[in-house]
Amino acid sequence: MIKVAPSILSADFGKMAEAVGNVERWGADIVHCDVMDGVYVPNITFGMPMIKSLRKYTDMPLDVHLMITRPEKYVGQFCDAGADWVTFHPEASEDVRGALNEIKSKGVKCGLVVNADQPFEIVEPYLDSIDMLLIMTVQAGFGGQSFKHDCLEKVRAGYKAKIENGYGYEIEIDGGVSPENIELCKEAGATIVVAGSSVFKAQDPASAVKAMQI
Ligand code: DX5
Ligand code: ZN
Repeated sequence: MIKVAPSILSADFGKMAEAVGNVERWGADIVHCDVMDGVYVPNITFGMPMIKSLRKYTDMPLDVHLMITRPEKYVGQFCDAGADWVTFHPEASEDVRGALNEIKSKGVKCGLVVNADQPFEIVEPYLDSIDMLLIMTVQAGFGGQSFKHDCLEKVRAGYKAKIENGYGYEIEIDGGVSPENIELCKEAGATIVVAGSSVFKAQDPASAVKAMQI
């Protein structure tokens, strides 16, 4: 069954503890935390202190998606703050392997992200070393954008490499995911989907979550 990770980017930033409580109550599987630095992406959200605080309010897995430059400088601190998963964009890093190793050395699951404007090839050298492959179906930076169908080709490439080589990584899709396109995500090989607007802006968020746990 596909695991659903609501993104708290779509929540009220003044009520984050309540938001993670809701995510759990709605029956979701993972909390997706979008960290943006205003440099790698033209938007700024929150950093390690938010992860550390949220950790006190939930036992749900925290999936921390770093949209920051030089992630190798900070991955350790995000692990120490209580992340269960840390993913970053390889083209933003000068030491991809070092960052992956540091995350693993902290006992945290590591992953790489393919942004919508990046080719699948950027993650190929690291596929044997990651726990999660995150394929973006929007350009990273903002919630509420529309799902880019052409990015599914990269999900299929990730799934093919996983099957052919016996890799164990999760395949996560992030950006514009909703009950309307969940079948396509599953067919392409996704095991986890991020959903911001389609859950937080839904009339009945619990039903939206359930509709994607297919
Ligand atoms: C975009 C973020 C996504 C975003 C998803 O840069 O990485 O996680 O919050 O939001 P929706 O589901 O609204 O596209
Ligand atoms: Zn994200």
